[in-house]
Amino acid sequence: MENKEFGKNGWTPKRLESLEGKTYLITGANTGAGFEATRILLTKGAGVVMLNRNETKSNKAIEKLREELGSGVSVSFIKMDLANLASVRSAAEKVIKTVPRVDALMCNAAIAQVPKQKRTVDGFESHLGVNHFGHFLLVNLLFDRIEKSSGRIVVVGSEGYKMGLKTIQFEDMNWDKNYHPMNTYCHSKLAQMMFAYDLQRRIDAAQKDVKVYVCHPGASATSLINNSGGLRDRIIFRLMAMTPLVQSAEKGAYPEVMCATEDHLDPTAYYGPTGRMNWTGPVGVCELKPFVIDQDVASKLWTVSENQTGQKFQL
Ligand SMILES: NC(=O)c1ccc[n+]([C@@H]2O[C@H](COP(=O)([O-])OP(=O)(O)OC[C@H]3O[C@@H](n4cnc5c(N)ncnc54)[C@H](OP(=O)(O)O)[C@@H]3O)[C@@H](O)[C@H]2O)c1
Repeated sequence: MENKEFGKNGWTPKRLESLEGKTYLITGANTGAGFEATRILLTKGAGVVMLNRNETKSNKAIEKLREELGSGVSVSFIKMDLANLASVRSAAEKVIKTVPRVDALMCNAAIAQVPKQKRTVDGFESHLGVNHFGHFLLVNLLFDRIEKSSGRIVVVGSEGYKMGLKTIQFEDMNWDKNYHPMNTYCHSKLAQMMFAYDLQRRIDAAQKDVKVYVCHPGASATSLINNSGGLRDRIIFRLMAMTPLVQSAEKGAYPEVMCATEDHLDPTAYYGPTGRMNWTGPVGVCELKPFVIDQDVASKLWTVSENQTGQKFQL
C-alpha cells in the first residue's frame, strides 16, 4: 500500500469512525505514545486496558484521562512488569478472566539505551528481556483470546532496527562481551520486528484469523530516553526535542493506532512517519530492510524465545 492511500497528510485519527464495543490492550500506556494512543482510542468510544508496571503512575494516567474525557470512559489497568515473566503470566491470566474481547494487543512498552548492562528478574539483558521476551510471552499467552476476537497484534518497532548489529547475536544474547546502550536497544527492537513478521507467516500457515502489524513512532517527544537512558543521551534528546526534528508524543501514537484500527493494511509492510529520515511526517509505508525477514534468523529467534520464556507457541 502506498502512502498516497491516506492523502498527503498521511494517516491521522480523522479517519477513525466510532470504536464503540471494541477493546484494546496497550502495554506501557501510562505515558508517551501508549498514553496518547489510549486517549485517541477512548475519544472514539473504545475500551482500553493498560498493561503497566507502575500502579501510582497508572492511576494518575487514568485520573487525567477521566478528567479530560469524562468519567464514563472505559479505561482500566492491569499490573504487568515485562521484566518479570511471572508478572507477565499473572497479567495474562487476569486479561483472560476479565477481558472477553481483544480487538488489538498493542505491544508498545519499552526501555531504551540503558547505560550499563542490567538483567531482568529472569536473567535476560534488560532491553531484550523487557522489549522482546516479555512481549513474546504476552502475545503467546493471549493469542487464543485475540484469535477468538478476530483481533490484531501491533508491534511498535523502531527505526533503530537498522542501526546496531542488523542481526540477532545468538552467541551472546545477554551482551556480556560487548554491551552497548544503543546497540542493545536496536537489537531488541529488531528482535520484536523479526518476531512479528515471522508470527504472521506462521499464522497464515496455520490459517488462523489474526493479523500482525508492525510500525514505528518516528522520533517523538516521550519519556523513553528520560526514563531509561544515561545522562548524556537524556541531554541530547531533550535538546533535539526542542527542534522540528522531533514530533509530539501524540503524533508518535498515530502509527500504532492506525495499525490497531485501519482496514486493509498490509501485514508485510512497515508503517510510520515518512518524512525526513522517517522521524516525522505523514504516516504511511516505510522501507523495510530485508534482514528483518531473514527466515533462518527469525526461526532461530523463535526457538530461542520459546525456550527462554518456557512457553511453546501452539501454532
Ligand atoms: N519516542 C521515540 O522517539 C521512539 C522512537 C522509536 C521507537 N519508539 C518506541 O515507541 C514505543 C513507546 O515508547 P515511548 O517513546 O512512548 O516511551 P515512554 O514514554 O518511555 O513509554 C514507555 C512505556 O513503557 C513502559 N515500560 C517500561 N518498562 C516496562 C516494563 N518492564 N514493564 C511494563 N511496562 C514498561 C513505561 O512504564 P513506566 O512509565 O513505568 O516507565 C512506559 O509506560 C516503544 O516501543 C519504543 O521503543 C519510541
